[in-house]
Amino acid sequence: MGIQWRFLHQSDSTNSEIVRSLVDNPSEGLTVVADSQTDGRGRRGRSWHSEPGTGIYLSTLIRPNLLPEQLPILTLMAGLATVIAVNDLIPQSAKLKWPNDLLLNGKKIAGILCEYHPSTTKNHAVIIGIGINVNHTYFPSDIKNTATSLKLECGENIDRTSLIKRLITQLDFEYSELKNNRLQGLIDNWTHHTDLLGKTITITQNNQSIIAKAKHLDSIGRLVIEDESGQEIALDSGEVSIREK
Ligand code: BTN
Repeated sequence: MGIQWRFLHQSDSTNSEIVRSLVDNPSEGLTVVADSQTDGRGRRGRSWHSEPGTGIYLSTLIRPNLLPEQLPILTLMAGLATVIAVNDLIPQSAKLKWPNDLLLNGKKIAGILCEYHPSTTKNHAVIIGIGINVNHTYFPSDIKNTATSLKLECGENIDRTSLIKRLITQLDFEYSELKNNRLQGLIDNWTHHTDLLGKTITITQNNQSIIAKAKHLDSIGRLVIEDESGQEIALDSGEVSIREK
């Protein structure tokens, strides 16, 4: 896709920048990067810590020709592109946690927020928002036990521009794979970058938690779990935490 870049010193939220620009009916490839966000948004109404000079806060617009039930695959696609781009620059291996997190040494280093906006004139819009904790050296107390940064884990500064370039190149590649119907390849590759499968997890959906074993991803990217009665269930959303042995 042709990229049209917008670089901002500060934004409320790079996803919101793209939402506002939808009135002008932009083509796919519109990409907004901000040095900081004042109202960075995470999943489930959470905020995303977005201090200046340290992280990557990036949103990009695509207009995929997918059915609504196929949309969750886009979160996996964005996560896969992010883990590949990050792992190119660090000695360790970050891992994907279904559906939208990147973990390094068990703590969160990146998250994906995909938002869907129907359109009457063009293919529906999907905004892919990616936040990466790059050079942070501290986090607020509410997330300091669960979040980390590439710098904290690797001990050195990471060049944000190089990471943005790799991220967009990889995202472009994964999106073309998806458009060429290489869905199974994407799922296999995602599976290669996770250590979730085979583990006992707690999965929370609609305020209810169950303990289950993570088995595999199905052909549309749902997480198949086996509950305590041995029944297999395919989940299309939910919050996963890995249980310590
Ligand atoms: C999550 O893990 O909850 C998703 C976090 C997504 C954060 C990114 S930062 C760039 C884009 N703009 C936002 O407001 N959110 C996403």
